Amino acid sequence: MTELTPIGLLAELTHRCPLGCPYCSNPLELTRANQELDTKTWTRVFEDAASLGAMHVHLSGGEPLVRKDIAELTNAAHLAGLYTNLITSGVGLNAQSLTELRAAGLDHVQISIQGVDPTRADAIAHFKGGAKAKREAARVVVEEGLALTINAVIHRGNIKDLPAIIDLAVEWGAGRLEVAHVQYHGWAIANRASLMPAREDFLTAAKLVEDARKSLEGTLVIDHVIPDYYAERPKACMGGWGRQVIVVTPDGRALPCHAAATLPGFAFDNVKDRSLAEIWETSEAFQKFRGTAWMPKPCQGCDRAEIDWGGCRCQAFAITGNAATTDPACALSPEHTKLREMATADAASGISTYRFRRIGG
Ligand code: SF4
Ligand code: FES
Repeated sequence: MTELTPIGLLAELTHRCPLGCPYCSNPLELTRANQELDTKTWTRVFEDAASLGAMHVHLSGGEPLVRKDIAELTNAAHLAGLYTNLITSGVGLNAQSLTELRAAGLDHVQISIQGVDPTRADAIAHFKGGAKAKREAARVVVEEGLALTINAVIHRGNIKDLPAIIDLAVEWGAGRLEVAHVQYHGWAIANRASLMPAREDFLTAAKLVEDARKSLEGTLVIDHVIPDYYAERPKACMGGWGRQVIVVTPDGRALPCHAAATLPGFAFDNVKDRSLAEIWETSEAFQKFRGTAWMPKPCQGCDRAEIDWGGCRCQAFAITGNAATTDPACALSPEHTKLREMATADAASGISTYRFRRIGG
């Protein structure tokens, strides 16, 4: 038995999305609409999550607004007692749909943006008219009085636009901006050479964020998700494996993180077969890297073992082929130099074509 309580549920309602961003963290093998969980099952999942102690649910995807039952799902999560956060591209969100969602119990909206220049933003999203739709969506969210977060995924193609991105978040009336450097999972890893920024550009961006945090204190909160490939120590991925978050995929697999399905040798339990509580408590997958007992050296005995929990298992596997090793983002990992060299080579690759995300590869 674990005494841990999940804080949040990441409900990947669907993998369908009108956009085709090449840095999407969804898996290359996307789930089709006919495999998605139905409204009734999601309702039970929300109730289970709340009974387990979860406080909030991120209604995510793909693009959650493509679910015809999104208002019903929002209401089910709300009635279960969860704080509801819609994570959306903004495409499909208008005054009418937002009023409906708000009446259903929506608490917060996070809109992702690709940049400030509409043509370039639409090009990377692989969707014409997206930038305009996002601006309008942000406007109606603020007009409805809902809390708004802007999520800007940062990569080589837009890192120099960061000052303008910060200005845009202020102009749109967001209370929070997530400056999220690409995390290399799913589609992002397939596009790493086209996305990786130069280290100097990352350092400039980090300084910019620091300065903006001070100058915009009281106006805009800025979160900064740094690129692991340029870190000295890893972050506690998902707050530590099986510690804070449960991800449920569109077809009902319960995972400790959004990329766990890339790890070999796991049979992930499905919410169609078992309750979320049973899965959280007893499933092999959630227990596998929970805590510190599984850790090899140098994590074992390290004073950060219960801070970063050894970093990201999926990244360790993607780079070394072994999920049970220290995340190479850590400078103490024997693979750290290799990771840095990969990043440097990718950043200098000059590759500027993308493999856009789409169902069916
Ligand atoms: Fe974290 Fe392991 Fe590196 Fe220590 S050795 S800082 S626990 S990843
Ligand atoms: Fe799986 Fe980090 S994404 S542990």
